[in-house]
Parts: sequence; C-alpha cells; structure tokens
Amino acid sequence: MDLLLVGGGGREHALLKALLKSPKVNKVYVLPGNAAMEGSRVKLVPIRPDQITEIADFAVFHQVDFAVIGPDDPLAMGCVDELEASGIPCFGPDRAAARIESSKAFAKELMKKYHIPTADFRVFDMKEDALAYLKDCPVPVVVKADGLALGKGVTVAMTRDEAIRAVRDLMEKRRFGASGDRVVIEEYLEGPEVSVLCFTDGKTVKPMVSSMDHKRALDGDCGPNTGGMGVIAPNPFYTEDVAAQAMEKIFLPTVRAMEKEGCPFRGCLYFGLMITKDGPKVIEYNSRFGDPETQAVLPLMESSLLDVMTACREGTLDGADVRFSPLCSCTVVQASAGYPGSYDKGLPFSMPGDTGDVRFYAAGVARADKKDPKKGLCTSGGRVACVTALAPTLEEAVEKAYAHVDDIRFDNAFHRGDIGRRALNSFS
Ligand code: AMP
Ligand code: GLY
Repeated sequence: MDLLLVGGGGREHALLKALLKSPKVNKVYVLPGNAAMEGSRVKLVPIRPDQITEIADFAVFHQVDFAVIGPDDPLAMGCVDELEASGIPCFGPDRAAARIESSKAFAKELMKKYHIPTADFRVFDMKEDALAYLKDCPVPVVVKADGLALGKGVTVAMTRDEAIRAVRDLMEKRRFGASGDRVVIEEYLEGPEVSVLCFTDGKTVKPMVSSMDHKRALDGDCGPNTGGMGVIAPNPFYTEDVAAQAMEKIFLPTVRAMEKEGCPFRGCLYFGLMITKDGPKVIEYNSRFGDPETQAVLPLMESSLLDVMTACREGTLDGADVRFSPLCSCTVVQASAGYPGSYDKGLPFSMPGDTGDVRFYAAGVARADKKDPKKGLCTSGGRVACVTALAPTLEEAVEKAYAHVDDIRFDNAFHRGDIGRRALNSFS
C-alpha cells in the first residue's frame, strides 16, 4: 500500500515509524514531514497541512491507498471530507466530528446534553456578559477560547483580575483572532491529569495505554505552557477502577453521543481527563493523537497500527487486534533555549538511530542546505526532537530516557529534568 501522512512533528514521526512496521506498506508520502523522516520508503512532499485541496489532488494523482491526518487544523478544515470525496480512505474524523476539538462550546454542550462528567461551564459571545459573570463567580476559574489556539487559549485564573484580563485578551484584543470571539468560562477542577488516546470506529472504543503529559516549560511544573515537554506511560494515577469508570461514564457515552448527533467520530479520540475526588472528568477532547503522548504510547503498541487504523475506517474495530506491551515508557523532549518564546533556528543538529528500547523522534528539524544533503540537518523549531525509552518499570524508563536525551545534539538545547518525578514520588 502507498500511504499519505499529513503533518511534520514528533507525533507524525512516531506514526510514521509505527506504520512502516507493517509489511503491507510500500511507500509513505509525508506532507510536509521533516528532514529526519526521510528514508528509502518515505518521500517528503512540500505541501502544508492547511492546503487541503492540494493534499487531495496529490493523493489522487499518486493513487494513494490510505491517508492518515496528524494535526488538528486540517481535520477542522475538512481534510478528511475532501480526501474521502476524492475516493481516498482516511484515518481521522471528518469536519463535523472534528468539532469536538475545534469548538470547545460544541464539546461542552455535548457533555451537558449527554451527562458526561466535566467542569460546570457557561458560554459567552459578548464580552460584557462574560465580564459581568466574572464579577461574582467562584474563583479560581478557567477561561478558554472556543476555537483552536495552539493549546494556548486556556487561562487557569487564580484571581478575578486574571480572569478579567484573559477575557479582555481574547474578546477585545483578539489575541487568537476569531478563535476567541466566543469564550467558555468553567469551574476549576483539581486532581491528577491523564491523557487517554482511544481508537474508535464510531461505535467501538479501544483505549491505548494511558499517559501523563508535562505541559509547563520548566521543572516543578513552572514556567509557561508548551505543547508538552515529556510524557510517561502508563499513567500510575489511572488505576483499573478509574479506567472502568472512564469507559462507562465518558468514552462510550461520548462516542454514542457523537453518533446520535449525526457526526460519528472515527479516528483517534483523545480524552484529557482530570481524576477528581468525584471521579474522572473531561478537561478536553482532541480529535487526533496527542503530541508528545503519541511518542510515548505508540512504541508500546504490539499489534499493527495500520490494521487498527483501517479497521477504524471500515467500522470493524470490534474484531481488531489492539494490543499493548506491559512495559513502561518515558519520553523527554529536547527543546531550543527560549521555547515556547523566541529561540534560535538553523543550529547544526544530530540524533542517533533507534536501538531496541530507545527511540528518537524529530520535530523541528530541517536540511541545513536543501541542495546539498552532505551538509546535514539543522534545527527549525522550538520542540526539536525527543527520546523515548522503554523498560519494565516507570523508574527504569525515566532513567534510561535521561541517559539518552543528550544524544540529541544541538547548541543551547534544554529539557525538563523531572519528567515522571511527581508521579514516581506519589507512588514510592
Ligand atoms: P486544555 O487546553 O483545555 O487541555 O487546558 C490546558 C490545561 O489547563 C489543562 O491541561 C489543565 O491543566 C488546565 N485546565 C483546563 N481546564 C481546567 C479546569 N476546568 N480546571 C483546572 N484546570 C484546567
Ligand atoms: N499534548 C497535548 C496535546 O496534544 O494536545
């Protein structure tokens, strides 16, 4: 089979490696991919994820057999609708189903209607109404842009003033453009967070191994929010009991709700949960694999990713083999100094090949000179690359990931030194 993979980050590098394990795969076109993904069966194509007409034209011209969409933007723009209309089968939700991530108001109304546990909330289209509500609502309180905002549209406001500033930033200064013209203001929840990526064909749900992202830039969960600086999997707070509650009260009801609403979700549905004293509650849905959760979770997958993805598309997930190793994994992201603010690009970059239980995934990496491959690779993004280590225990996986993170080399590299520490301390 010839596959098409949309995206170019660490998540897509992990998807690519997992897909290439299938003997059915002949070639993978990655749009646009990154320079570290190149290989004998991999062709990088300079089409951006938001160029959905060009993506569909390319897929038709090259007679692609199956397409996998990584990032949220093309899903929200209808990339799957466009490809499927052109006769290309896809893994990923169509535009209507992708609203579960692209509109927080849609997601919250869905949860309310179908009694899926989540934080209490209000939706506002007018700044004056949002500000009036903030005058005497309980604090802390959480202010969220309705639309996509690169994971940066959420303010957990510890004070009323902070919440007011967040609303003004979104609705007056329009910091995220139209994404913030509607805001969701919600109840502040407390508890450990867990990410659960689930395969679904619109009816059946098969969860992958749970994980824990570390979103802040600096040790001790300090500093600004980032796309994610490291992950451990499985998440030790996600006990069998919590998993059973999540399946019964959250995963199945969500998939059934989407079907009832006429927009069945097929693809990877990402549940961001908080384990509160009243049980697990939904913090957010994503309509795609998480980044960097995917880099920690997919190396643990023992069954064929391609077969599971095609089963999600065909509606046969119920009979599909979805198996994960009992090992643990830890992913540590190597970032460029300054990230998530401004940082240097174009720094000479190197990263070793994978060994059995240590894997490397690149994100912000490009060719130093497009015309001369001998010039090697350089950095081109903030989250440059990551390492994932597998081991029988979480402690060993963490230790092994840290033993190899500096094998990812470029000037001014930095990583968090405490991925997994809080979880390990809680269980030691
Ligand atoms: P989101 O983009 O919706 O996942 O939010 C980003 C982060 O903000 C989450 O990972 C949580 O740490 C935090 N957060 C979001 N909603 C809430 C809430 N209702 N209560 C407490 N923290 C929250
Ligand atoms: N790691 C969080 C996300 O992918 O949204």
